[in-house]
Amino acid sequence: MNPMNGRCAVEVQAVHKHFGRVHALRGLSLQIERGTTYGLLGPNGAGKTTLIRVIMGLIAPDSGETHVLGHRMPDKDVMAHTGYMTQRVALYEDLTVYQNVQFFAVMAGLAHDRRAIEEAVALVDLSARMDSRVRELSGGMQRRVSLACALVHRPQVVMLDEPTVGVDPQLRVQFWDHFRRLNQEGVTLIVSSHVMDEAERCDRLGFIRHGVLLAEGSAAELLQRAGTETLEQAFLHYAEQGPAA
Ligand SMILES: Nc1ncnc2c1ncn2[C@@H]1O[C@H](COP(=O)(O)OP(=O)(O)O)[C@@H](O)[C@H]1O
Ligand SMILES: [Mg+2]
Repeated sequence: MNPMNGRCAVEVQAVHKHFGRVHALRGLSLQIERGTTYGLLGPNGAGKTTLIRVIMGLIAPDSGETHVLGHRMPDKDVMAHTGYMTQRVALYEDLTVYQNVQFFAVMAGLAHDRRAIEEAVALVDLSARMDSRVRELSGGMQRRVSLACALVHRPQVVMLDEPTVGVDPQLRVQFWDHFRRLNQEGVTLIVSSHVMDEAERCDRLGFIRHGVLLAEGSAAELLQRAGTETLEQAFLHYAEQGPAA
């Protein structure tokens, strides 16, 4: 597969997804340019995780389609070029930090590459805990291991579902600096959050509620169009205008 296919890194077209009677995604469409960071913002239950899983091809939409790097999902060849940090930690608790990162690297098709694993672990500031079993780490440390697992194979498109929850402020700054460097290398990031405080670090934001994209744009554009001072106020403004639940 040529990972440089496609104008956009991610395209979502009119996606609907139900879970029983819950209409989790309601005809949602969006496009994400290569080399940018897109912030997916909305309260709990808005549909952020469902959207990420549909984009990754892990769950099938009821209708609509998604493309990643120009390939219609699901596509197993694209998986080697994508990284996904899940909202809930999904690691092997009895394996060490090193072994977990190695496992994800191998799953993504990377040959055993000690240096790549060590770099990913260093990025999340856990080099000193490389040989600790994951069950012995704090929750925040486990989230950092998940981030290392999502990045170790140097994916072109990275989905990070609430990546900074439980991560201390200093390390958050380091994470965002690294995300910026990845953008400069052409990597596309999708970062979901239910808090607005990091939104201004994203190139573009999508406000999502009840499975609908309420508004989209840079933080400055969203503030200007809403005529508000904070993104929280702007979100409420667009939510009032948006379709009812
Ligand atoms: N596997 C599932 N089974 C049933 N309902 C689900 C499932 N996943 C998500 N939902 C429902 O879909 C809606 C959107 O959930 P989710 O995508 O997790 O939102 P968010 O990540 O924004 O908090 C919620 O009402 C949630 O309960
Ligand atoms: Mg979620």
